[in-house]
Amino acid sequence: MSLPSDLLHLATEIAREAGELAFRRRREGVTIAATKSALADIVTEADREVETLIRARLAAARPDDGFFGEESGAGSGTSGITWVVDPIDGTVNYAYGIPAWAISIAAVEGEPDPATWSALAGVVYNPVSDELFRATRGGGAWLGDHRLQVNDEVGPAGGLIGTGFGYDPATHAAALEQLSRVMTISRDLRRIGAASLDIAFVAAGRLDGYYERGLQPWDHAAAVLLVTEAGGIAGGAPGGVPGREMTIVAGARLYAKLDEVIDY
Ligand code: IPD
Repeated sequence: MSLPSDLLHLATEIAREAGELAFRRRREGVTIAATKSALADIVTEADREVETLIRARLAAARPDDGFFGEESGAGSGTSGITWVVDPIDGTVNYAYGIPAWAISIAAVEGEPDPATWSALAGVVYNPVSDELFRATRGGGAWLGDHRLQVNDEVGPAGGLIGTGFGYDPATHAAALEQLSRVMTISRDLRRIGAASLDIAFVAAGRLDGYYERGLQPWDHAAAVLLVTEAGGIAGGAPGGVPGREMTIVAGARLYAKLDEVIDY
């Protein structure tokens, strides 16, 4: 039996070590190793090295668990628990030296599929600001000793809303149309460039809401748990869970408005 608090402890320790490595590599200078799904979708040597480190540490500590990572793919386990990992979320920020990127590590129960899994523990760690957002199922979401709470008091000026556009140019025209509708309920918009941090910021009340189409499981696995544990709602396409088609996170009132203006 695995307690969420034990999983969180391990995730925290590994995220800090991984963050230290990624930050050191950032200071030494970043090399782009390859492009992936589109020309703008890059992977750096550091993404690969950091994922290798995280995967090795998890395998050593919990050899029976599965693994599902952005750079090295999936490996099945026998314990019923899978680690879902983005070694560096916000890779473009990382490559450009914008200090908004994060290590995201989640432990989930069930099949490694966001449609059916249940997250047990998650951390989103920005090594530059040294902020580690963490949550366990039923144990709340925390930043240091501060318990996180989403902001559900959105005034008449509208919500401060984060979003992202993904890398596939074919989706950009529709995304911009959608953005113009979201603008009608927004006081302003933010495009920070690291989905895990955007979602963690909703948990922390730094953004009122966030939505994006095209997210991958490792972008949101840990951060969505932060939001639900901070009293927020996380969903996807109507009636669904966060996923590639759509991810929306916010307090209940703004969530309903976002759900109304986003045309799926
Ligand atoms: C990306 C970032 C970005 C979001 C993209 C993600 P990556 O993750 O989170 O903010 O807009 O959809 O793919 O590629 O930097 O790990």
